[in-house]
Amino acid sequence: MKAAVLFEVNKPLQIEDVSVPNPGPREVLIRTRVAGLCHSDLHFMEGLYPHPLPAVLGHESAGVVEKVGSDVTYVKPGDHVVTCLSVFCGTCDNCTTGRTVLCTDTTVKMLPGASNRLSWARSEKLNQFLNLSSFAEQMLVHENAIVKIRKDMPLELAALIGCGVITGYGAVVNTAGVKAGETVAVIGCGGVGMAAINGAAIAGAGRIIAIDTNPAKLQLATKLGATDIVDPRNGDVVQQVRDLTNGGVQHSFEVLGRKETAEQSFAMLAAGGTATIVGMIPFGQKIELHGFDFLRERRIQGSSMGSNHFRVDMPRLIEFYMRGKLHLEDWISAKLKLSEINEGFANMKAGKTLRSVIMF
Ligand code: APR
Ligand code: ZN
Ligand code: ZN
Repeated sequence: MKAAVLFEVNKPLQIEDVSVPNPGPREVLIRTRVAGLCHSDLHFMEGLYPHPLPAVLGHESAGVVEKVGSDVTYVKPGDHVVTCLSVFCGTCDNCTTGRTVLCTDTTVKMLPGASNRLSWARSEKLNQFLNLSSFAEQMLVHENAIVKIRKDMPLELAALIGCGVITGYGAVVNTAGVKAGETVAVIGCGGVGMAAINGAAIAGAGRIIAIDTNPAKLQLATKLGATDIVDPRNGDVVQQVRDLTNGGVQHSFEVLGRKETAEQSFAMLAAGGTATIVGMIPFGQKIELHGFDFLRERRIQGSSMGSNHFRVDMPRLIEFYMRGKLHLEDWISAKLKLSEINEGFANMKAGKTLRSVIMF
């Protein structure tokens, strides 16, 4: 099969011939139909996060089951599935207490470099990325890395749910537990931030403030449920949010992954408010907060993949789409061939796209 391989950071991906073995007892072979380009892939391509190379990137995808391992009962060939990097074992302390995104069981969640699910004719070992490697015509994954979905759901929209949408929506609904009427600010209205905005609207938030430097993104944010927009180029972001909300928001979401915006997310809180950091802040980067703010019961917390329970959350998100509450069709800016993948990342970097998807 063909796959897009990252050999070196800051170099284009290369299309190579790659193969996968037959599924092991609990593995599933999937014919990839759609793979979304997520900013996290770019973080790895730029070396902001380390990963053993060469590797096949991609972690937001949907496809059709082709073969299943001897112990798999959850899916059968022909089933439509969405993948999720939050593969879970179901039996560790984190899984048993309901925090499956924190599962670290290495029998299901292989550590970077440990996987033998991909191979090729070259001498060096090829690494699987986040237990998925979606920029490939086929994926070999653990059965607990997929959710079965209804067949009338378009796969190009289903794929988006696999990372960007569940991450943004889940941060609002699962991690922060935004309640009806509460005020929300979202910093960074990319693929993930838009899902936080749409999620806040679904949760019944009161004011929803979208913050982005790109006017086109702010316009779409309004369509998805933002009640107010803030452009950092018009002055101090924190002050603009305070002015709009009479002193700060109950919930802020940083969906960009930068020190500066993470600090802004904490500073724009009302007393008792909670900042949720969704963006991937560069590895090793520290952030600074004013200690006094803790006396006003301001909180800051991390969110990983929207604290999802993806086998429950993803079918629910599909229902929201079917009922016209989640506007997934607005996410797709471009449909590309695998051979055009580098173009897609260049457009992401230039801020031209919300989501580009590879159609196989
Ligand atoms: N303030 C607010 N928004 C900004 C700023 C700024 N200073 N600078 C850039 N932006 C906006 C961009 O205009 C863009 O709309 O942030 C958005 C980032 O969006 P994407 O590039 O589409 O990124 P996305 O895929 O949404 O991921 C965002 O979440 O999961 C993580 O790793 C991911 O850290 C990344 C973050
Ligand atoms: Zn992602
Ligand atoms: Zn576990």
